[in-house]
Order: sequence, then structure tokens, then C-alpha cells
Amino acid sequence: MSTPSTTVGFQGKPHFQLQVRPAETRDAQDIARIYLQATQDHLATFENFLVTPEERARWVLEHSGKFPLLVAELNGRVLGWASLSPYQVRPHTDGIAELLIYIDRDYRRHGVGRELMRAIQSAARTQGHFKLIGRFLADNDAGRTLCRLTGWREVGVHEKHTALEGRWHDVVLVEYLITENLK
Ligand SMILES: CC(C)(COP(=O)(O)OP(=O)(O)OC[C@H]1O[C@@H](n2cnc3c(N)ncnc32)[C@H](O)[C@@H]1OP(=O)(O)O)[C@@H](O)C(=O)NCCC(=O)NCCS
Repeated sequence: MSTPSTTVGFQGKPHFQLQVRPAETRDAQDIARIYLQATQDHLATFENFLVTPEERARWVLEHSGKFPLLVAELNGRVLGWASLSPYQVRPHTDGIAELLIYIDRDYRRHGVGRELMRAIQSAARTQGHFKLIGRFLADNDAGRTLCRLTGWREVGVHEKHTALEGRWHDVVLVEYLITENLK
């Protein structure tokens, strides 16, 4: 996969070149750190994962080809990541993948999410997926707005779909259709 870079504006600073590239095992620690921030901020939709170093490294290795894991990097620092995983329904539907996208708490709202989204959508198109799905906590305004701005559609709301810290939360289901891959 190519390693496109883009110019992202950080408040009060000149524009920097953000590089989006496939993740490597050396990124596992950063991927877990950024995910953990989202769980602490009550923005992760489901339970913790990527807990042990072995799990983190294995998860990175599981993602390639049809199911990429991309990181956004600025001056050697990983600011966020986005992944596609098999859509876990029975029977398994080929051509549908599930999105995860997480940005470092200190670098949210600087355009990194939009750039990673663009890159993962492009990878999905190249890999032949015809649909991506995503799930967000219903009160995740950032996730919902980012999706709305990048061509996703809200399919519906699962009521009381995930229990986090003893409280039930509604979950929004979103989808992104890649019509040129529909056969
Ligand atoms: C959702 C998330 C990925 C967005 O990434 P980001 O880098 O902050 O998003 P961007 O800076 O590219 O913002 C794109 C647009 O989304 C909207 N947006 C971003 N953050 C927002 C917020 N907190 N509230 C409302 N809208 C928001 C804005 O319209 C923004 O464009 P603008 O800044 O030009 O107005 C990021 O907030 C995040 O990692 N959140 C925690 C993890 C998560 O919720 N992941 C989704 C579940 S898988």
C-alpha cells in the first residue's frame, strides 16, 4: 500500500505533513495506548481489548490485505489508527468489513480522523469491499459527525446495546456503501 501524506493544520502552528501508512508490530503499543484513552474517555463502544503485549502484536499481524490497519504518523509520533475487520455475522458476508477509528486524545479535532477515514475508505475500495459498517455510542458526537461528513449513513439505533461501567448505552449503527464494488 502506498504511504500518502497530507497537510494537517494544528492550531497556532504551521502546517505539518501527516503520513498515513500500514501499521507494523512496533506500533502496537501506541495503538493500545490510543484505544485505552478512548475507553477512559467513555468513547469506546465495547469492552477492552489489546490488553497484553502479545494480544497487541497479534492483532497488528492479523491486519493486512483485505483487512488493513493504518496509522497516522506525524514526526515519528503515531496520532491515530483505523482498521477494517471481518464483519462478524452468520453467515459471514464477503465484501463487508467493520471499521474502528481512534485518534490520540491530544490530537483530536485537527483533521487526523478525517484523513485516516479517507485513507481507510480508499483501501476498502481497492480491496473490493462493497460496504463498511461501524458502531458508535449514541452520545459520541465526534464519531457521528465525522461519519456524516465522510459519506456514511446512520442505519439505526440499538437501544441498551452495551453495558459500560454498570450503565446501559444505546449504539448507533452506520454504514458506508462502495457502489462500484457491488456486483
Ligand atoms: C471520532 C474521532 C475518530 C474523530 O477524529 P478527529 O481527528 O478528532 O476528527 P477530525 O479532526 O478529522 O474532525 C472531522 C470533523 O468531525 C467533527 N468533529 C470532530 N470532533 C468533534 C466533536 N468533539 N464534536 C462534534 N463534532 C466533531 C467536526 O465537524 C470535524 O470537522 P471540523 O473540525 O472541521 O469542524 C475522534 O474524536 C476519536 O478518536 N474519538 C475517540 C474514539 C472514537 O470515538 N472512535 C469511534 C468509535 S470506533
